[in-house]
Amino acid sequence: MKADVQTLGDSVVDVLARESTDHAEKPIEKNVIYNENCLATMERMPDGVVDMVVTSPPYDNMRTYEGNSFLEFQKTAHALYRVLKRGGVLVWVVGDETIRGNETGTSFRQALYFRDEAGFNLFDTMIYLKPPRGAVGNNKTYWQSFEYMFVLSKGKPKTINLLCDRKNVDARRGDNGSKRLVDGSLKKMYRGGYQKTGRRLNVWEYRIGKGHSSSDSVAHEHPAIFPEKLAQDHILSWSNPGDTVYDPFMGSGTTAKMCLLNKRYYIGSELNDAYCEIAQRRLETFGSLF
Ligand SMILES: C[S@@+](CC[C@H](N)C(=O)[O-])C[C@H]1O[C@@H](n2cnc3c(N)ncnc32)[C@H](O)[C@@H]1O
Repeated sequence: MKADVQTLGDSVVDVLARESTDHAEKPIEKNVIYNENCLATMERMPDGVVDMVVTSPPYDNMRTYEGNSFLEFQKTAHALYRVLKRGGVLVWVVGDETIRGNETGTSFRQALYFRDEAGFNLFDTMIYLKPPRGAVGNNKTYWQSFEYMFVLSKGKPKTINLLCDRKNVDARRGDNGSKRLVDGSLKKMYRGGYQKTGRRLNVWEYRIGKGHSSSDSVAHEHPAIFPEKLAQDHILSWSNPGDTVYDPFMGSGTTAKMCLLNKRYYIGSELNDAYCEIAQRRLETFGSLF
């Protein structure tokens, strides 16, 4: 089924995948969350069908996801590269576990693997800043307050819509000024102005927890959601309306919801059937929006 942009989301409830066996031989459809290992979903995707990926994988042993979590990182990295279009962007949101005072460094290792082995450009290392959550595994460090958002691209990013909502300290019109040259003389030149707002820094801060990450109470039945606004800000930055966004670790359906609200198609994979059900309940209300 290929819905056009106007009907995005119409059939979310009907097509949401519940049993991976249903999909064994079926080609991948848009606006579906497949209840299976993401590697199985990607295996059925032709090359270069996805415009963008935004995801937060299971990392280290921070969450067990009811014992139902399985990341074959290297295979996943190569599969993501294959299914992305040239110029497509992958946003990989991760942190590190601290074990007996020693951070695993998984985040860095993964970023460098994406770059050195899987073919991606490490386009930007961004920070997801959040209120301190307590010392993770070590109460002698400063409060732990961020995760990485690695922005990786397959070649030069084909879509860059930088968000320009950071207030400049002072707005000013351009004017004529002068610049002193090396020989001491003054050269007349035009000085550009500042708008009231400019492009953001690459550190993005979000409040988290109930009522902040999402106002959908059902979403919080999942133990590790990322903020809706984080997903939306990346979707707006690296894709256009009508594009296809894949989340291989869909969890409670945050990426799917933000795609529907922003007129993008989504494709998702989620191993745990209870989380697929959460996503289904969360997305039900969107059926009539388009
Ligand atoms: C950090 S959570 C993602 C949460 C999601 N961003 C949200 O906002 O709800 C990671 C998810 O990956 C799922 N998962 C783990 N291994 C998987 C795999 N191999 N394929 C698909 N999903 C997997 C887990 O069940 C978990 O729900």
